[in-house]
Amino acid sequence: MSKESKVESAKRQGRHLRGTIAEQLHDGGSHFEGDDVTLLKFHGTYQQDDRDARKRRDESAEKAFAFMVRVALPAGALDADQYLALEEVADRWANGTLRVTTRQGFQFHGVLKRDLKATIAEVNHRLMTTLAACGDVSRNVMGCPAPVDDEVHQAVRAAASGIAQRLRPASKAYHEIWLDGEKQVSTEEEPFYGDVYLPRKFKTGVALATDNCVDIWSQDVGLVAIADGRTITGFNVLVGGGLGMTHHKADTTARLAQPLGFVTTEHAVEAVRIVASIFRDHGNRADRRHARLKYLLAEWGMERFRAEFARRAEFPLAPPVELPPLPYHDHLGRHRQPDGRWFYGVFVQSGRITDTGGQRLKTALHEIVVRLRPGVRLTGQQNVLLTDLDDAGVKAVEAALRAHGVTPAQELSAARRFSMACPALPTCGLAVADSERVIPELLDRFEAELSALGLRDEPLTIRMTGCPNGCARPYTADIAFVGRSLGLYNVYVGGGLGGDRVVDLFRADVRFDELLDAVRPLLVRWATERAPGEGLSDFYQRLVGRTERRTSISGREEPSAELVALAVGS
Ligand code: HEM
Ligand code: SF4
Repeated sequence: MSKESKVESAKRQGRHLRGTIAEQLHDGGSHFEGDDVTLLKFHGTYQQDDRDARKRRDESAEKAFAFMVRVALPAGALDADQYLALEEVADRWANGTLRVTTRQGFQFHGVLKRDLKATIAEVNHRLMTTLAACGDVSRNVMGCPAPVDDEVHQAVRAAASGIAQRLRPASKAYHEIWLDGEKQVSTEEEPFYGDVYLPRKFKTGVALATDNCVDIWSQDVGLVAIADGRTITGFNVLVGGGLGMTHHKADTTARLAQPLGFVTTEHAVEAVRIVASIFRDHGNRADRRHARLKYLLAEWGMERFRAEFARRAEFPLAPPVELPPLPYHDHLGRHRQPDGRWFYGVFVQSGRITDTGGQRLKTALHEIVVRLRPGVRLTGQQNVLLTDLDDAGVKAVEAALRAHGVTPAQELSAARRFSMACPALPTCGLAVADSERVIPELLDRFEAELSALGLRDEPLTIRMTGCPNGCARPYTADIAFVGRSLGLYNVYVGGGLGGDRVVDLFRADVRFDELLDAVRPLLVRWATERAPGEGLSDFYQRLVGRTERRTSISGREEPSAELVALAVGS
């Protein structure tokens, strides 16, 4: 058997996530050392340092350490008081911004070690948690955030919170360290996870057959609610999605989930637990790069996986229900709830709730939440929904946004509305290029070009990440820019909002200033040759003559001169 990775031994020796975090927390230093840096992730925080400051500091000085703290919110739901409490935490102990993540959570950036305990304790005090927001466990469970109380939406929310509860780590370490809970060490602490937890992260989501806003094909396990009219009958279970890969490594792949089967509603959460248990017992623990469920599935094949599932399940797994492509809604703008009230979806560029220049989004949201006390829900596109508004309330929301210079969703170009970017520099330790900081400028350029071509309002998703790990789901976008090194990106095309198709590498190693030039010929052809209603990626796939949906892409991909020539018409 191959040797276990260093992270495995950190977990094994960590006594169910304790390590020496409690001791190091009070040692007066600016950062943690050793295995605790790994264990902290399970508690929902990453130790980072300001990457910009690295260049400025002299050799002898210490790095500018600060912590990212992530709040897990199943299906992205919180109430007005919780929102205001998180805003206060951001102002008091973080950098004053709240960041909506692509998995419906919130992140704080820039928390100093001395404030870490207060930050995490306050999140818990407000009945939220950072536990298992990162680390080798089941992560924040995604679910459609639309505030609709029909049977199908209720079943989706129930499944999401059921998965979150069933797969939450049981260790008391979190309470001991952050909430001054009583110390207890027992070997029976983690009945599901055991001593070494999962081989790596495990991502789940619950979608509707009528709305794939959680990008179900990108999840390790996805449930898709199947209804007969308005009555829920059960869920299709999809397994083995995951978008991270490594440049130039042929054996790393971004891959879409595949249908495993159909289960009735009462067995849905247990089905997810069984898949997690197969991953726990058979996932790769020697090589972190291959430690995702998608690699186990590729190695075993679906038949073997299904047989192992059936062996563990005490209920039947039926064949998956055949479905047409899943529609997709971003939920932005004004929508009537079935109860007659309204919800309003606010666009948040790259998920960052802040006041910048003329756009005072943070102030606007603060005023709205204080005055109207709406429900708050986060979407998988890094946006915010304000719910349960009456007629006067929804008008007040629109007026407040406008008064603070925030552009309403219906006035945004499609390219901006559907864009996503990961944080990257200066916080993320894995970033090799900028993303969130440069996407506004890139979108300005694309907007101008698309408007000139008469394509301003054609649905299109542009996504950007600072490295190939894929946190903003680039490999299912229409157009994606993935960092190669500072100022240099690979350009991908061919995915789309439906999330059921992966991209092709279109151009490698393009400088930031030339990104628009790299895709302009394709945009021009799209403008002039598309069929009515044909999206960019449908058009691209037709041009290159592909009829099957592509479901995986490896890190070793080279741009195909033939495909590029077909797409640009040269
Ligand atoms: C495979 C290797 C991956 C690693 C090592 C990794 C690591 C990280 C790190 C360090 C951050 C913190 C960045 C910061 O806030 O400064 C981050 C952010 C994030 N990652 Fe990943 N990530 C990986 C893949 C993914 C994938 C495939 C997804 C989802 C499809 C994802 C979802 C997120 C989310 C939701 C955030 C929060 C920021 C955002 O919304 O963009 N990650 N990741
Ligand atoms: S994609 Fe890479 S650079 Fe961006 S947040 Fe994820 S790990 Fe960091």
